Amino acid sequence: MSIETARGKEMVVQFNGERCIHARHCVLDRPDVFVPNVSGEWIHPDRATPAQLMELAHNCPSGAIHCDSTDGTLVETAPLVNTVRVRENGPLAFRAPLNIDGQDAGFRATLCRCGASTHKPYCDGSHSAAGFTASAEPAPVESTALAQRNGALKVEPIRDGPLHVSGNLEVITGTGKTVNRVVESWLCRCGQSGKKPYCDGTHKRIGFRS
Ligand code: SF4
Ligand code: FES
Repeated sequence: MSIETARGKEMVVQFNGERCIHARHCVLDRPDVFVPNVSGEWIHPDRATPAQLMELAHNCPSGAIHCDSTDGTLVETAPLVNTVRVRENGPLAFRAPLNIDGQDAGFRATLCRCGASTHKPYCDGSHSAAGFTASAEPAPVESTALAQRNGALKVEPIRDGPLHVSGNLEVITGTGKTVNRVVESWLCRCGQSGKKPYCDGTHKRIGFRS
């Protein structure tokens, strides 16, 4: 799917349907700006202020929505704290200056952790149909405060294996608890690890194919 672009007087909104996980924050928060179930034009940037549009983009967990001002003065800024939020029965939601599989990927992305996405490493919502169950409240791991909490985060999907992440990253539960702080980690994306969200090598035993 190509990226849809909606140009307003002050803002340009881009929508990447391949990234969208249908969490529906956009259509529930501003159904006048993102109008669901219509044919033709469905994104109306001029119905919100630039600040409201930036907030809508910021609340889109997958990075499907991206906003800039037409004159280039308003752009999304990197988070002060890099995080990966573990979603109940769903993907891993990253917020960080992301490089995924060698490509700059913006500041937000939801990556598959059930193994069923047809658009790996990104989540495509297949976890629901696959009946994936996984807690959003993993047990805390002993860790110390990071010397720096932001900066570039590299995510390397290992072939037939986990996501190798390098950079400053805090692991957050669905209820907002920080349960680990890492500068390097391997996160399960086969869906079968016994110590999710981390890889425990199970992908080899089950013959996971990415
Ligand atoms: S992932 Fe983003 S674009 Fe997709 S429904 Fe949620 S907020 Fe809207
Ligand atoms: S990727 Fe799931 S156990 Fe390694």
